[in-house]
Amino acid sequence: MANVKKTIHGEWSSRFAFILAATGSAVGLGNIWKFPYITGANGGGAFVLVYLLCVALIGIPLMMAETMLGRRTRQDPINTMEILTEEAGADKNWHYLGWMGVAAGVMILSYYSVIAGWSTAYVLKAFTGSFFDADPAVIKDIFDDFVSNPLRLTFWHSLFMIATLLIVVRGVNNGLEQAVRYLMPSLFGLMILLLGYAMTTSGYFDGFNFLFKPDFSKLTGDSVLTAMGQAFFTLSLGMGSVMVYGSYLSSDISIAKTSIIIAAADTFVALLAGLIIFPLVFTHGLHPDSGPGLIFKTLPIAFGSMTGGWFFGVLFFIVLAIAALTSSIALIEPAVAWLVESKGYSREKACTQAGLVAWALGLGTVFSFNIWSDVKLFERTFFDLIDYLTANLMLPVGGFCIAVFCGWIMHPRHSEQELNLGRPLWFKLWMLLVRYVAPLAVFLVFLHVVGVL
Ligand code: PFF
Ligand code: NA
Repeated sequence: MANVKKTIHGEWSSRFAFILAATGSAVGLGNIWKFPYITGANGGGAFVLVYLLCVALIGIPLMMAETMLGRRTRQDPINTMEILTEEAGADKNWHYLGWMGVAAGVMILSYYSVIAGWSTAYVLKAFTGSFFDADPAVIKDIFDDFVSNPLRLTFWHSLFMIATLLIVVRGVNNGLEQAVRYLMPSLFGLMILLLGYAMTTSGYFDGFNFLFKPDFSKLTGDSVLTAMGQAFFTLSLGMGSVMVYGSYLSSDISIAKTSIIIAAADTFVALLAGLIIFPLVFTHGLHPDSGPGLIFKTLPIAFGSMTGGWFFGVLFFIVLAIAALTSSIALIEPAVAWLVESKGYSREKACTQAGLVAWALGLGTVFSFNIWSDVKLFERTFFDLIDYLTANLMLPVGGFCIAVFCGWIMHPRHSEQELNLGRPLWFKLWMLLVRYVAPLAVFLVFLHVVGVL
């Protein structure tokens, strides 16, 4: 039967290794860079509440679903969908789902690498003492000046892309696992430290209230979609990445437990980031809606003024870049796994090809912050557009399809056996969520955005 088949890529050495790698994929720029700036742009509390609801009611059940699908076939997402549709006797078109995931991964990676490049460049800035005693206006100028130079951004973007590819080439056990082992604890530690600093600032309560006090008048249809998209993005859902990681997972491990642990850790880091950034924003009279530069305009203020800030600043941007690395390897893995399995490419060739496409596409994002900053399509820059396309459209559509597939197409006997939840009640609850709640929620949000509802 399908679920005893061995993967050709290897297997996680333990449950802990899987949790590490999957948490590494989840925790990244989405939590520390993206969550604060989109929360700021969408008015705070109410947006956060919708986001949290989406994580709990759609995110966790879907993470279980994706892991389960991957583990059942032990193949890349496209093959997985082909095998499972055949098993269920369903329409062949379901494999397009795998295609969309591969495409979304490469598209997200294209800009992810650019922003991770910023973090890498900021290691150097912190190291040379650029933030020392600098006031918020100077910190902002440093950022504006930094992104104004396309060549410089291209350099850091290329460097990060090469680092990603070097890890991915080495494969599952050597590359992905090792990278995460020490990273997560250091990230947690540094963020707790920064939280300690934020709590001493005069804007702490304003920041806290901005994040947790919902003002529903600030919620638009588009911000509900953005909150939902962020839930998918931050948990790496809707694009087959979790499927791939699941395909490397051994059969005796509880999918439910690991999904809950991963989602909880991810949410914790995002909220922590918010609790650090917004107090700084309000203490220094900055604007919550400062866009993608938000953390680069706020965190250096803290590093410039706190004791030991030089050291912690250097460390923080290193850790952020590595956190991005453990996510970027997950972004490209569906494409690589597919090229290896279906096209018979070597891992090297597959990495090079997928990496080149992502790199070239990333140049569009590089230019959106300087020479193309006025070039807009649907009122969006290239970067905004690709972000909207992936996070707000492709991932939710992917998630919707995965939910429908697990809820309506796949035989419940198969999913029940694979999930192995123990009590029948838990399986019923999961079924309820993937069958009705998740697809309906995505559908209604889309209707709302296009103005039908
Ligand atoms: N979850 C990552 C983050 O929050 O930064 C981004 C991501 C990684 C999305 C891997 C999708 C993915 F497959
Ligand atoms: Na995340």
